[in-house]
Amino acid sequence: MRIILITLLFSFPILAQTRGGQSGGRFELLSGTRKGKEVKTYWDKKYNNEEYVFGKTPAKFLSQNYSYIPEGSRVLDMGMGEGRNAVFLARKGYKVTGVDISSVAVNKAQLLAREFGVRINTVVASLNNYKIPKNSLDAVICFYYVDRSLNKRMVEWLKPGGVLIYESHTDNQRKVKGNESYDKRYLLRESELMTMFPKMRVLKYEEPLHKGNFTTSIILQKPKAE
Ligand SMILES: C[S@@+](CC[C@H](N)C(=O)[O-])C[C@H]1O[C@@H](n2cnc3c(N)ncnc32)[C@H](O)[C@@H]1O
Repeated sequence: MRIILITLLFSFPILAQTRGGQSGGRFELLSGTRKGKEVKTYWDKKYNNEEYVFGKTPAKFLSQNYSYIPEGSRVLDMGMGEGRNAVFLARKGYKVTGVDISSVAVNKAQLLAREFGVRINTVVASLNNYKIPKNSLDAVICFYYVDRSLNKRMVEWLKPGGVLIYESHTDNQRKVKGNESYDKRYLLRESELMTMFPKMRVLKYEEPLHKGNFTTSIILQKPKAE
């Protein structure tokens, strides 16, 4: 798949461009039938209006736990969307790069950054073929973007001691009216996050019994010496 970079500015070890939400039941998950260009078209269309589909405030699990990420360090936001989490971290002093397949999302993320007077690096690319050097990142955040084929690489990207914060819906979300058709491949199983990254140390784990919004969240650390 083609990778489109908006600009190249190597202030981050991974290639990146610089200019410089909210949790809830409004997440429409990736459908397994959409691939490559179809995914991009789907999300571009979804984001193509003034409203911020997932809001401008960060996911609660992130705003409550961002201090697990060492101060001022470099963070990758996978499937960044319209930037609610990336901009939040930038406001807290982190050097954030957000990667998303949707150029519309990335443009909105840059607008949000400007609104809050912060800078974020952004890249329009598919994470399926986007190259990130091993041991280069202090932290990775991944919110509501499930692609198990990336699990091994996510750990490789992190420096020893690096932190991963991951949150998504569990397949219980399919019990919620209107969500029955969500593709199970893009939902996490109950407790799956506890076993998905076997080499990582669990720092925090939550799988609350929500009514109407079944989420699962984890904070992991890559061992300092492998
Ligand atoms: C449910 S949204 C979550 C957005 C954001 N993480 C948040 O929590 O607000 C999933 C995001 O993943 C992005 N995405 C889907 N497939 C992708 C891929 N292969 N590479 C990069 N981003 C992708 C979509 O464009 C979309 O913005």
